Amino acid sequence: MLRTTAEALMADERAKNHHIVADRLQRALSAVPITPPALTSAQPHTVSNNGRDTILELKPRIQLDELILTLPARESARQLVDEHCRADILRAHGYEPRHRILLSGPPGNGKTSFAEGVAEALALPFFVVRYDALIGSYLGETNARLRRLFDYVRTQPSVLFFDEFDAIGKERGDTHETGEIKRVVSFLLQQLDQLPSYVIVIAATNHGELLDRAVWRRFQMRLSFPSPDRKMIAVFLDRIIEQWPDRPRLQPSRIAGKLGKASYAEALDFCQNVRRRQILGLGELGIDDALRLEIELWSSRVTPDALNAERPDQATAEADSSS
Ligand SMILES: Nc1ncnc2c1ncn2[C@@H]1O[C@H](COP(=O)(O)OP(=O)(O)OP(=O)(O)O)[C@@H](O)[C@H]1O
Ligand SMILES: [Mg+2]
Repeated sequence: MLRTTAEALMADERAKNHHIVADRLQRALSAVPITPPALTSAQPHTVSNNGRDTILELKPRIQLDELILTLPARESARQLVDEHCRADILRAHGYEPRHRILLSGPPGNGKTSFAEGVAEALALPFFVVRYDALIGSYLGETNARLRRLFDYVRTQPSVLFFDEFDAIGKERGDTHETGEIKRVVSFLLQQLDQLPSYVIVIAATNHGELLDRAVWRRFQMRLSFPSPDRKMIAVFLDRIIEQWPDRPRLQPSRIAGKLGKASYAEALDFCQNVRRRQILGLGELGIDDALRLEIELWSSRVTPDALNAERPDQATAEADSSS
Protein backbone atom coordinates (compact mmCIF):
# COMPACT_ATOMS: atom_id res chain seq x y z
CA MET A 1 0.00 0.00 0.00
CA LEU A 2 2.73 2.40 1.11
CA ARG A 3 4.87 1.35 -1.85
CA THR A 4 2.06 1.92 -4.38
CA THR A 5 1.33 5.36 -2.95
CA ALA A 6 5.02 6.29 -3.03
CA GLU A 7 5.34 5.07 -6.62
CA ALA A 8 2.31 7.13 -7.66
CA LEU A 9 3.76 10.21 -5.94
CA MET A 10 7.10 9.66 -7.67
CA ALA A 11 5.48 9.44 -11.11
CA ASP A 12 3.49 12.58 -10.34
CA GLU A 13 6.60 14.54 -9.31
CA ARG A 14 8.48 13.43 -12.45
CA ALA A 15 5.58 14.48 -14.61
CA LYS A 16 5.86 17.90 -13.02
CA ASN A 17 9.62 17.89 -13.75
CA HIS A 18 10.40 17.83 -10.00
CA HIS A 19 13.28 15.42 -10.54
CA ILE A 20 15.06 16.02 -7.23
CA VAL A 21 12.00 15.08 -5.19
CA ALA A 22 11.32 12.13 -7.51
CA ASP A 23 14.91 10.87 -7.15
CA ARG A 24 14.73 11.12 -3.37
CA LEU A 25 11.52 9.17 -3.34
CA GLN A 26 13.05 6.51 -5.59
CA ARG A 27 16.12 6.15 -3.33
CA ALA A 28 13.93 5.90 -0.25
CA LEU A 29 11.74 3.30 -1.95
CA SER A 30 14.65 1.14 -3.08
CA ALA A 31 15.81 0.91 0.55
CA VAL A 32 12.49 -0.62 1.63
CA PRO A 33 12.66 -4.42 1.44
CA ILE A 34 9.95 -6.14 -0.50
CA THR A 35 8.15 -8.47 1.91
CA PRO A 36 6.33 -11.49 0.54
CA PRO A 37 2.61 -11.67 1.29
CA ALA A 38 1.69 -13.48 4.49
CA LEU A 39 0.90 -17.14 3.86
CA THR A 40 -2.29 -17.02 5.86
CA SER A 41 -4.32 -13.92 6.43
CA ALA A 42 -5.97 -14.33 9.84
CA GLN A 43 -4.35 -16.15 12.79
CA PRO A 44 -0.99 -16.99 11.22
CA HIS A 45 -0.20 -19.37 14.12
CA THR A 46 -3.13 -21.65 13.33
CA VAL A 47 -1.62 -24.60 11.48
CA SER A 48 -4.79 -26.54 11.01
CA ASN A 49 -8.32 -25.58 10.40
CA ASN A 50 -9.41 -29.08 9.71
CA GLY A 51 -9.16 -31.94 12.22
CA ARG A 52 -7.61 -34.05 9.44
CA ASP A 53 -4.36 -32.08 9.82
CA THR A 54 -3.74 -33.32 13.33
CA ILE A 55 -3.85 -36.99 12.42
CA LEU A 56 -1.85 -39.21 10.15
CA GLU A 57 -3.53 -42.10 8.39
CA LEU A 58 -1.26 -45.11 8.27
CA LYS A 59 -1.68 -48.36 6.48
CA PRO A 60 -1.61 -51.20 9.03
CA ARG A 61 1.32 -53.47 8.18
CA ILE A 62 0.90 -56.08 10.83
CA GLN A 63 -1.78 -58.61 11.73
CA LEU A 64 -2.76 -59.58 15.25
CA ASP A 65 -1.82 -63.20 14.46
CA GLU A 66 1.77 -62.16 13.82
CA LEU A 67 2.14 -60.81 17.34
CA ILE A 68 3.20 -62.79 20.35
CA LEU A 69 0.80 -61.64 23.03
CA THR A 70 0.23 -62.52 26.66
CA LEU A 71 -2.89 -64.59 27.22
CA PRO A 72 -4.97 -61.67 28.54
CA ALA A 73 -3.92 -59.41 25.63
CA ARG A 74 -4.69 -62.12 23.08
CA GLU A 75 -8.09 -62.84 24.62
CA SER A 76 -8.92 -59.12 24.85
CA ALA A 77 -7.97 -58.62 21.21
CA ARG A 78 -10.28 -61.46 20.22
CA GLN A 79 -13.15 -60.00 22.27
CA LEU A 80 -12.58 -56.50 20.94
CA VAL A 81 -12.69 -57.64 17.33
CA ASP A 82 -15.75 -59.80 18.02
CA GLU A 83 -17.62 -57.00 19.83
CA HIS A 84 -17.10 -54.67 16.87
CA CYS A 85 -17.85 -57.24 14.18
CA ARG A 86 -21.10 -58.14 15.91
CA ALA A 87 -21.96 -54.76 17.40
CA ASP A 88 -25.53 -54.96 16.10
CA ILE A 89 -26.29 -57.96 18.32
CA LEU A 90 -24.89 -56.13 21.34
CA ARG A 91 -26.88 -53.00 20.50
CA ALA A 92 -30.08 -55.00 20.15
CA HIS A 93 -29.56 -55.84 23.83
CA GLY A 94 -28.73 -52.30 24.86
CA TYR A 95 -24.93 -52.72 24.98
CA GLU A 96 -22.16 -50.97 23.07
CA PRO A 97 -18.87 -52.60 22.09
CA ARG A 98 -15.90 -51.45 24.20
CA HIS A 99 -13.84 -48.85 22.41
CA ARG A 100 -11.42 -47.19 24.85
CA ILE A 101 -8.27 -49.23 25.26
CA LEU A 102 -5.11 -48.42 27.16
CA LEU A 103 -1.86 -50.26 26.42
CA SER A 104 1.10 -49.98 28.72
CA GLY A 105 4.56 -51.47 28.77
CA PRO A 106 8.23 -50.86 27.98
CA PRO A 107 9.27 -49.85 24.43
CA GLY A 108 9.33 -52.29 21.57
CA ASN A 109 6.90 -54.94 22.80
CA GLY A 110 3.97 -54.45 20.49
CA LYS A 111 1.73 -51.59 21.63
CA THR A 112 1.70 -49.77 18.29
CA SER A 113 1.58 -53.08 16.46
CA PHE A 114 -1.44 -54.14 18.52
CA ALA A 115 -3.32 -50.96 17.57
CA GLU A 116 -2.41 -51.52 13.91
CA GLY A 117 -3.50 -55.14 14.17
CA VAL A 118 -6.91 -54.13 15.53
CA ALA A 119 -7.42 -51.68 12.63
CA GLU A 120 -6.33 -54.37 10.19
CA ALA A 121 -8.63 -57.02 11.66
CA LEU A 122 -11.64 -54.71 11.45
CA ALA A 123 -10.60 -53.17 8.11
CA LEU A 124 -10.81 -49.68 9.66
CA PRO A 125 -8.69 -46.63 8.88
CA PHE A 126 -5.78 -46.33 11.31
CA PHE A 127 -5.38 -42.74 12.51
CA VAL A 128 -2.36 -41.70 14.54
CA VAL A 129 -2.59 -38.44 16.48
CA ARG A 130 0.17 -35.98 15.56
CA TYR A 131 1.17 -34.12 18.70
CA ASP A 132 3.40 -31.77 16.70
CA ALA A 133 0.33 -30.46 14.90
CA LEU A 134 -1.99 -30.76 17.88
CA ILE A 135 -0.17 -28.94 20.64
CA GLY A 136 -0.34 -25.19 20.21
CA SER A 137 1.48 -22.56 22.21
CA TYR A 138 -1.44 -20.16 22.50
CA LEU A 139 -4.00 -20.40 25.22
CA GLY A 140 -6.94 -22.52 24.14
CA GLU A 141 -5.32 -23.45 20.82
CA THR A 142 -4.73 -27.11 21.69
CA ASN A 143 -8.32 -27.55 22.82
CA ALA A 144 -9.61 -25.95 19.65
CA ARG A 145 -7.51 -28.37 17.59
CA LEU A 146 -8.60 -31.29 19.73
CA ARG A 147 -12.22 -30.37 19.11
CA ARG A 148 -11.63 -30.34 15.35
CA LEU A 149 -9.79 -33.65 15.57
CA PHE A 150 -12.69 -35.31 17.37
CA ASP A 151 -15.26 -33.69 15.07
CA TYR A 152 -13.37 -35.20 12.17
CA VAL A 153 -12.91 -38.71 13.58
CA ARG A 154 -16.52 -39.12 14.61
CA THR A 155 -17.56 -38.86 10.95
CA GLN A 156 -16.58 -42.50 10.35
CA PRO A 157 -15.60 -45.75 12.12
CA SER A 158 -11.85 -45.85 12.73
CA VAL A 159 -9.06 -46.71 15.12
CA LEU A 160 -7.64 -43.54 16.68
CA PHE A 161 -4.20 -44.08 18.18
CA PHE A 162 -2.66 -41.84 20.84
CA ASP A 163 0.99 -42.87 21.24
CA GLU A 164 2.97 -41.77 24.31
CA PHE A 165 -0.28 -40.86 25.98
CA ASP A 166 1.49 -40.07 29.27
CA ALA A 167 3.17 -37.12 27.53
CA ILE A 168 -0.10 -35.21 27.76
CA GLY A 169 -0.81 -35.79 31.44
CA LYS A 170 2.74 -36.00 32.76
CA GLU A 171 3.58 -32.32 32.53
CA ARG A 172 0.87 -31.25 34.92
CA GLY A 173 3.56 -30.45 37.45
CA ASP A 174 5.12 -27.83 35.18
CA THR A 175 4.09 -24.69 37.07
CA HIS A 176 3.31 -21.98 34.54
CA GLU A 177 1.77 -24.43 32.11
CA THR A 178 -0.29 -26.18 34.78
CA GLY A 179 -3.56 -24.40 34.15
CA GLU A 180 -3.49 -24.92 30.39
CA ILE A 181 -2.42 -28.56 30.60
CA LYS A 182 -5.14 -29.33 33.11
CA ARG A 183 -7.67 -27.80 30.75
CA VAL A 184 -6.32 -29.88 27.86
CA VAL A 185 -6.42 -33.12 29.88
CA SER A 186 -9.93 -32.57 31.16
CA PHE A 187 -11.17 -31.56 27.71
CA LEU A 188 -9.55 -34.66 26.23
CA LEU A 189 -11.18 -36.91 28.82
CA GLN A 190 -14.53 -35.30 28.18
CA GLN A 191 -14.13 -35.85 24.43
CA LEU A 192 -13.17 -39.48 25.00
CA ASP A 193 -16.33 -39.97 27.06
CA GLN A 194 -18.49 -38.53 24.32
CA LEU A 195 -16.95 -40.46 21.48
CA PRO A 196 -19.28 -42.92 19.68
CA SER A 197 -18.32 -46.57 20.11
CA TYR A 198 -17.52 -47.01 16.40
CA VAL A 199 -14.37 -44.94 17.00
CA ILE A 200 -11.92 -47.21 18.80
CA VAL A 201 -9.47 -45.11 20.80
CA ILE A 202 -6.24 -46.89 21.64
CA ALA A 203 -3.80 -45.05 23.87
CA ALA A 204 -0.28 -46.35 24.51
CA THR A 205 2.17 -45.45 27.24
CA ASN A 206 5.56 -46.60 28.47
CA HIS A 207 4.70 -45.15 31.87
CA GLY A 208 1.27 -46.37 32.91
CA GLU A 209 2.13 -45.48 36.51
CA LEU A 210 2.25 -41.79 35.59
CA LEU A 211 -1.38 -41.66 34.53
CA ASP A 212 -3.79 -40.53 37.19
CA ARG A 213 -6.91 -42.40 38.23
CA ALA A 214 -9.26 -40.17 36.26
CA VAL A 215 -7.39 -41.17 33.11
CA TRP A 216 -7.25 -44.89 33.94
CA ARG A 217 -10.96 -44.93 34.68
CA ARG A 218 -11.82 -43.80 31.13
CA PHE A 219 -10.39 -46.94 29.58
CA GLN A 220 -12.57 -50.01 29.44
CA MET A 221 -9.69 -52.35 28.59
CA ARG A 222 -6.23 -51.93 30.09
CA LEU A 223 -3.65 -54.25 28.68
CA SER A 224 -0.09 -54.78 29.67
CA PHE A 225 2.73 -55.42 27.18
CA PRO A 226 5.57 -56.62 29.40
CA SER A 227 9.11 -57.37 28.27
CA PRO A 228 9.31 -60.93 26.95
CA ASP A 229 11.12 -63.66 28.87
CA ARG A 230 13.68 -65.87 27.16
CA LYS A 231 11.13 -68.49 26.22
CA MET A 232 9.00 -65.95 24.41
CA ILE A 233 12.02 -64.49 22.65
CA ALA A 234 12.95 -68.01 21.56
CA VAL A 235 9.48 -68.52 20.05
CA PHE A 236 9.80 -65.16 18.30
CA LEU A 237 13.29 -65.97 16.95
CA ASP A 238 12.10 -69.37 15.76
CA ARG A 239 9.31 -67.72 13.73
CA ILE A 240 11.79 -65.40 12.07
CA ILE A 241 14.51 -67.98 11.44
CA GLU A 242 11.94 -70.28 9.85
CA GLN A 243 11.79 -67.84 6.96
CA TRP A 244 15.53 -67.68 6.40
CA PRO A 245 16.97 -69.57 3.43
CA ASP A 246 19.18 -71.61 5.77
CA ARG A 247 18.87 -72.39 9.42
CA PRO A 248 21.74 -71.74 11.82
CA ARG A 249 23.03 -74.63 13.93
CA LEU A 250 22.48 -72.70 17.16
CA GLN A 251 18.94 -73.33 18.44
CA PRO A 252 16.60 -70.34 18.98
CA SER A 253 16.52 -71.04 22.73
CA ARG A 254 20.32 -70.78 22.85
CA ILE A 255 20.30 -67.59 20.79
CA ALA A 256 17.65 -66.17 23.15
CA GLY A 257 19.97 -67.06 26.05
CA LYS A 258 22.80 -65.11 24.40
CA LEU A 259 20.57 -62.08 23.80
CA GLY A 260 19.42 -62.00 27.43
CA LYS A 261 17.07 -59.16 28.28
CA ALA A 262 15.65 -57.77 25.04
CA SER A 263 12.43 -56.41 23.62
CA TYR A 264 10.80 -57.99 20.58
CA ALA A 265 11.83 -54.96 18.55
CA GLU A 266 15.48 -55.46 19.58
CA ALA A 267 15.33 -59.19 18.83
CA LEU A 268 13.90 -58.36 15.40
CA ASP A 269 16.69 -55.85 14.75
CA PHE A 270 19.26 -58.45 15.75
CA CYS A 271 17.85 -60.98 13.28
CA GLN A 272 17.76 -58.42 10.49
CA ASN A 273 21.39 -57.54 11.17
CA VAL A 274 22.40 -61.19 10.93
CA ARG A 275 20.72 -61.45 7.54
CA ARG A 276 22.17 -58.16 6.29
CA ARG A 277 25.63 -59.34 7.21
CA GLN A 278 25.10 -62.67 5.52
CA ILE A 279 23.64 -61.13 2.36
CA LEU A 280 26.51 -58.65 1.99
CA GLY A 281 28.96 -61.52 2.51
CA LEU A 282 27.90 -62.57 -1.01
CA GLY A 283 28.06 -66.26 -0.31
CA GLU A 284 31.43 -66.04 1.49
CA LEU A 285 29.81 -65.85 4.91
CA GLY A 286 27.65 -68.70 6.18
CA ILE A 287 24.67 -68.07 8.44
CA ASP A 288 26.53 -69.54 11.45
CA ASP A 289 29.41 -67.10 11.06
CA ALA A 290 27.08 -64.15 10.51
CA LEU A 291 25.17 -65.14 13.65
CA ARG A 292 28.33 -65.55 15.72
CA LEU A 293 29.66 -62.14 14.67
CA GLU A 294 26.36 -60.42 15.47
CA ILE A 295 26.21 -62.11 18.88
CA GLU A 296 29.69 -60.74 19.62
CA LEU A 297 28.56 -57.26 18.64
CA TRP A 298 25.36 -57.65 20.65
CA SER A 299 27.20 -58.27 23.87
CA SER A 300 29.13 -55.02 23.46
CA ARG A 301 26.14 -52.93 22.41
CA VAL A 302 25.17 -49.77 24.24
CA THR A 303 21.82 -49.78 26.01
CA PRO A 304 20.23 -47.24 28.35
CA ASP A 305 20.67 -49.79 31.20
CA ALA A 306 24.34 -50.20 30.36
CA LEU A 307 24.79 -46.42 30.30
CA ASN A 308 23.21 -46.10 33.74
CA ALA A 309 25.37 -48.90 35.05
CA GLU A 310 28.46 -47.09 33.73
CA ARG A 311 27.77 -43.90 35.65
CA PRO A 312 28.85 -45.01 39.14
CA ASP A 313 32.16 -46.27 37.68
CA GLN A 314 32.66 -43.02 35.83
CA ALA A 315 31.95 -41.12 39.02
CA THR A 316 34.56 -43.21 40.86
CA ALA A 317 37.07 -42.73 38.04
CA GLU A 318 36.53 -38.98 38.12
CA ALA A 319 36.85 -38.93 41.91
CA ASP A 320 40.11 -40.94 41.65
CA SER A 321 41.62 -38.65 39.02
CA SER A 322 40.80 -35.52 40.99
CA SER A 323 42.31 -36.83 44.24
N1 LIG B 1 4.60 -58.82 20.85
C1 LIG B 1 5.23 -58.81 19.67
N2 LIG B 1 5.15 -59.87 18.84
C2 LIG B 1 5.78 -59.84 17.65
N3 LIG B 1 6.51 -58.80 17.19
C3 LIG B 1 6.61 -57.74 17.96
C4 LIG B 1 5.98 -57.68 19.24
N4 LIG B 1 6.28 -56.49 19.80
C5 LIG B 1 7.04 -55.83 18.92
N5 LIG B 1 7.25 -56.55 17.82
C6 LIG B 1 8.07 -56.13 16.66
O1 LIG B 1 8.78 -54.96 17.02
C7 LIG B 1 8.40 -53.85 16.21
C8 LIG B 1 8.22 -52.62 17.09
O2 LIG B 1 7.14 -52.83 18.00
P1 LIG B 1 6.08 -51.69 18.37
O3 LIG B 1 6.36 -50.46 17.60
O4 LIG B 1 4.72 -52.27 18.24
O5 LIG B 1 6.45 -51.47 19.90
P2 LIG B 1 5.85 -50.42 20.93
O6 LIG B 1 5.46 -51.18 22.15
O7 LIG B 1 4.82 -49.60 20.26
O8 LIG B 1 7.12 -49.56 21.26
P3 LIG B 1 7.22 -48.01 21.73
O9 LIG B 1 6.81 -47.97 23.16
O10 LIG B 1 8.68 -47.70 21.54
O11 LIG B 1 6.34 -47.22 20.83
C9 LIG B 1 7.10 -54.26 15.53
O12 LIG B 1 7.02 -53.72 14.24
C10 LIG B 1 7.17 -55.75 15.49
O13 LIG B 1 7.82 -56.16 14.30
MG1 LIG C 1 4.81 -47.56 19.74
